[in-house]
Amino acid sequence: MAAPTMDAVVALCKRRGLIFPASEIYGGIANTYDYGHYGVLLKKNVIDAWWKTMIQEREDIVALDSAIIQHPRTWEASGHLAGFTDPLVDCRACKQRFRADHLGELQCGRKPSKHPGEADECDLTEAREFNLMFETTIGPVQEAGSTVYLRPETAQGIFLDFKTTLQYARRRPPFGIAQVGKSFRNEITPGNFIFRTLEFEQMEMEFFVPPDEAGQWYDHWRRARLDWYVGLGIDRERLRLRDHDADELSHYSSATADVEYLYPIGWSELEGIANRGDFDLTQHARFSGERLEYVDANTKERYVPHVIEPAAGVGRTVLALLCDAYDEDEIGGERRTVLRLHPAMAPVKVAVLPLLRKDGHPERAREIYEELRRHVNAEYDDGGHIGRRYRRQDEIGTPLAVTIDHQTLEDGTVTLRNRDTLAQDRVPADELVDRVTDLTR
Ligand code: GAP
Repeated sequence: MAAPTMDAVVALCKRRGLIFPASEIYGGIANTYDYGHYGVLLKKNVIDAWWKTMIQEREDIVALDSAIIQHPRTWEASGHLAGFTDPLVDCRACKQRFRADHLGELQCGRKPSKHPGEADECDLTEAREFNLMFETTIGPVQEAGSTVYLRPETAQGIFLDFKTTLQYARRRPPFGIAQVGKSFRNEITPGNFIFRTLEFEQMEMEFFVPPDEAGQWYDHWRRARLDWYVGLGIDRERLRLRDHDADELSHYSSATADVEYLYPIGWSELEGIANRGDFDLTQHARFSGERLEYVDANTKERYVPHVIEPAAGVGRTVLALLCDAYDEDEIGGERRTVLRLHPAMAPVKVAVLPLLRKDGHPERAREIYEELRRHVNAEYDDGGHIGRRYRRQDEIGTPLAVTIDHQTLEDGTVTLRNRDTLAQDRVPADELVDRVTDLTR
């Protein structure tokens, strides 16, 4: 099918409780969403796949979970306090605030068919720089020196713990430190669902390398990270690597490439891979007075490692998976919406459905369900017509459904339905665990 609209994906997420607006009973809050049951499971599958790639399948990366609120000097050293800003304009007429560099994509507050500044009554201020970090205070009174910030990226916590990790983990470059956690940005631009939110989870890994190896590791991670998304089942044709032009580079970066996905809003960033050089360790060494360098115990050679950073967003990966998997087709003259998620990403791997709510079907179905859920995420559903139950599972992307019927009680076989081919194979119930685990890896 042609790519779905964002509205179709948003509607499915709401209908099936994957993701929906936060604080809805109070009218919602800008660019903020909650994940429901299936959304949580999908998100967890993404994060688990990332940890597997970074930690389980490699020996040279260690895990970290650093604090969200760090010493405020962190953000002076990193450059965020001075430079992590967006240019904003206010409209004196409609009282709305807009990103000055996005006016062409935004809608005027009073005349939504026009861009801000285009209607006669628009009255825009000059652009002012607005810092994206959320500020708060430590302690019961607001006083000088008590201001702290919610981290706008997880990366800085990794740089602060570079020395400690180097010591306890007994690593030498090249080695990496990986972290998953929430970051916060006071984003003004309308969000496009979960593409741009005020709080979001990042999956970041800082890979510390000898300076003369930075180029080759940058190339390695650029390619490896694109391949990771292909491995999640995302269509290769809808993924691309885009190298930043010199004028797009952040203050710390000598080279950056984005993995982009063709979302309904067009090609947009899923993940950035940056060569950060020695910027961060040098800055934190200067601000903290600590030596942040690697010293070879044998040769006594010392240097500040360079850093290659693959920085991904959990929400943007979830959104790419949802857009990519969304499909509509027709079964027996009826429209069906189906999420063709890779089985390893699917929130529920198998649904267990008794054909009838009598004649021993529910009892046998529950036995089978109890057995299956010891191995995979399974769901038991005996509510409503069997066709409707299949549709419900299709909409959340469940790749397999087991149906228990009269024949099950006679010969011990069940039907195993495939979400994509719609094939219904008759298989012995005692083979189900092996079949289901094989088919949903
Ligand atoms: N440490 C580098 C860094 O934070 P970034 O490109 O600003 O780089 C990395 O962020 C990733 O975090 C992005 O590619 C995106 O997936 C995700 N991300 C950034 N801002 C986001 C937001 N407001 N909402 C959702 N995801 C966001």
